[in-house]
Amino acid sequence: MYVDPRAEKSMDLYDRAAELIPGRVQLISRRASRFASGVSPVYAASAKGSHFIDVDGNEYVDWANAVGAVILGHADDVVDSAVKEQIDRGSIYTLNSPQEIELAELLVSTIPSAEMVRYTKGGGEACAVAARIARGATGRDVILFSGYHGWHDWYQSANYLADPTTGENPFSGIEPIGVPRSLAGTAIPFPENDLECLKRLLKENEGRVAAIMMEPMRSELPPEGYLASVKELASENGSVLIYDEVTCGFRIAVGGAQEYLGVVPDMTVIAKCMSNGYPMGAVVGSREVMEPAGRMFVSSSYWSDNVGLAASITTINELLRRDSKKGFEEIGEKLKAALGEAIDAAGVPARCTGFYTHPHIDFDVPDESLQPKVKTLFVQEMARRGIHTDGGFKASLANDDEDIRVTAEAASESFRVVMQGLEGSLDELLKADLTQEPFRRLVR
Ligand SMILES: Cc1ncc(COP(=O)(O)O)c(C=O)c1O
Repeated sequence: MYVDPRAEKSMDLYDRAAELIPGRVQLISRRASRFASGVSPVYAASAKGSHFIDVDGNEYVDWANAVGAVILGHADDVVDSAVKEQIDRGSIYTLNSPQEIELAELLVSTIPSAEMVRYTKGGGEACAVAARIARGATGRDVILFSGYHGWHDWYQSANYLADPTTGENPFSGIEPIGVPRSLAGTAIPFPENDLECLKRLLKENEGRVAAIMMEPMRSELPPEGYLASVKELASENGSVLIYDEVTCGFRIAVGGAQEYLGVVPDMTVIAKCMSNGYPMGAVVGSREVMEPAGRMFVSSSYWSDNVGLAASITTINELLRRDSKKGFEEIGEKLKAALGEAIDAAGVPARCTGFYTHPHIDFDVPDESLQPKVKTLFVQEMARRGIHTDGGFKASLANDDEDIRVTAEAASESFRVVMQGLEGSLDELLKADLTQEPFRRLVR
């Protein structure tokens, strides 16, 4: 396997991890194979603002920002000061913390669907809590979903279902090993924007659907009227409508995609961005759906630790104070324009697509089988120029004009290399192992 001098220490650690950690990493998106393995950095030594330094001593402009969790930028001074002050007063108390109420009030005043709030530590965990509450509140078992909702059994059990025509599992690439087979049929996927499929599933499971859980968007806006129609179907069928805003929330508006798109669900799952990288998640919703949770067993020691609470309160207040909604629109639109110009200048068959919160590069290659090579070559060349991207760009508020300038410059050069590759020297130019998409996503 090729190892570039700039990734030697990273790849050494990655080899050592193979001996000690099953699967080497804790998060699939941190696998070396998600980037240009052998050239891209895998382990970081430090991070500040929009940059990180890897264990080999190379500095990168970060466009992944801790899978989007770091919304204000790495090691934000304001959030970190609040956290440090809180640690000095106690990172967790024997008793409850008044900050639980303060954060709940803040979430209720910011997120349109929020009247009551429960906390967790992560996104998948919050989805599992939402599923439990919806099932408990309706007395029904089935959950129809459209999105990625974490690693828990309730959700992964859907991968026992196979498309009768293609034989394909909903998220091909992930085997539901270890998930009870008896759960098969309790969580059923529907493709994004497919109202007919959703209607059919609701009919087939009449009176049994506790909830429709969905990502209202990821990197593309949903078609006009789609979210409103799903809401109508949920309410006609007495099912709880849950938006999973773990990835789309906060960046598009502090109140989430629901604020921006104007459709309010019954319940919302948030995590990641709410605390600028400190572990925290929440399930918020109407009084009617949330109140029954008081009678359910939903309980864990660390859900209300003071670090997560202090980080969340400070992060949300800072997003509002720094006018993040405008900031993200400006960064995203400028970056899209700059990358578009780089594409035109290189004459490469590519487009910079996606909503401004998550632009990405799509290559229009004549032969689809070349797609993984072309994409990996681009990621490889960007890594060589100190830009960390998997082909997508998830800005933090710390990514600035200078980051955009150097990224566009690196992209121009990288696109030129891709052009050379398309003209015949692809295999020669490509040093890294091919980028691998770990699993199929239901929402783009
Ligand atoms: C929409 C969505 N839901 C849930 C999750 C799971 O969150 P976590 O990785 O914190 O468990 C993710 C993570 O990427 C996500 O994008």
